[in-house]
Amino acid sequence: MTATALPPERAAAPPAPDRAPLPKGVGRYKRPGRRVAFANQKGGVGKTTTTVLIAAAAASRGARVLVIDLDPQCHATSTLRATPGRYTVAEILTPDPQTGDAVPGCAHSAIVPADAQVWPAGIDVIPCSLLAAERETDAGVDREIRLATACEGVADLYDLILLDLPPSLGVLSINGLTYADEVDVVIQPHRFGVDGAAKLSHTIARIRKRLNPGLVMGAIIAAAVDMGDDRAKRAIARERLAEAETAYGEHMPVLVMRRWEAVNKATDRALPLSHFGAIGREPAEWFDSQALRLLGEAA
Ligand SMILES: Nc1ncnc2c1ncn2[C@@H]1O[C@H](COP(=O)(O)OP(=O)(O)OP(=O)(O)O)[C@@H](O)[C@H]1O
Ligand SMILES: [Mg+2]
Repeated sequence: MTATALPPERAAAPPAPDRAPLPKGVGRYKRPGRRVAFANQKGGVGKTTTTVLIAAAAASRGARVLVIDLDPQCHATSTLRATPGRYTVAEILTPDPQTGDAVPGCAHSAIVPADAQVWPAGIDVIPCSLLAAERETDAGVDREIRLATACEGVADLYDLILLDLPPSLGVLSINGLTYADEVDVVIQPHRFGVDGAAKLSHTIARIRKRLNPGLVMGAIIAAAVDMGDDRAKRAIARERLAEAETAYGEHMPVLVMRRWEAVNKATDRALPLSHFGAIGREPAEWFDSQALRLLGEAA
């Protein structure tokens, strides 16, 4: 089955958000519309966890947040319990069959809300679907800038846009990094070491050179770091963090996200940290500090 392109009339149509023209909350922070991608070609390191829980923290502060799920596994979409509409990332990255170009602004048609019964109000999602995997073989000349084209005008509607990248460095990740203002690299140093750092750094450098000179290397987020009572585990964690500093630290600060049971439960059950009472408080504070880092100062 091939992905169908958006009908051309969508291109000319004005954005059609199903909310008020200027969403409540936008403009409370000094750099509205900031786009941050969470990247690593390795799977299971914490990209989706970071994306979703920072989105929830930012929304709890009254920010309007958009999560763009670029991973055909659709974990951000399912964790935020978003129900895709007619269009997903697969369709908005599909070029118009007549022109061969992405349809400017068509991403508006794919935006759906996260489940506001469960998650804080103010989170929207551009969901992914399995069909997006087909975009990895896109050979068109504009293949890297299709997301940026599709998202024309979208950033004006949000305080913060978070992009959950797939565990690969293919066309989907490159589209995300080309549209982003900042990339944060997520690693789980204890599980995987830091191999792959060179390849990822090289890809980011190439994107900055050729496609997106403004892309800022934000931070390394070392996720699920075991800093518990066990001295031996703490020593290993420190050793791994030192390795991460050596591999990436020249360009970006390494931020430590501890391993918290509540974080694991939150992503497994698709629930916010507030659901887990006392054990959710410390991680919630950490994700709140990250939301503030990305939102910037209040206006
Ligand atoms: N700080 C943390 N404490 C405890 N568990 C964590 C933490 N961060 C991530 N995890 C767990 O690690 C696992 C992998 O996380 P996640 O799905 O976010 O990784 P990912 O990089 O998005 O994976 P993929 O590349 O396959 O999409 C999840 O079970 C998640 O709950
Ligand atoms: Mg993921």
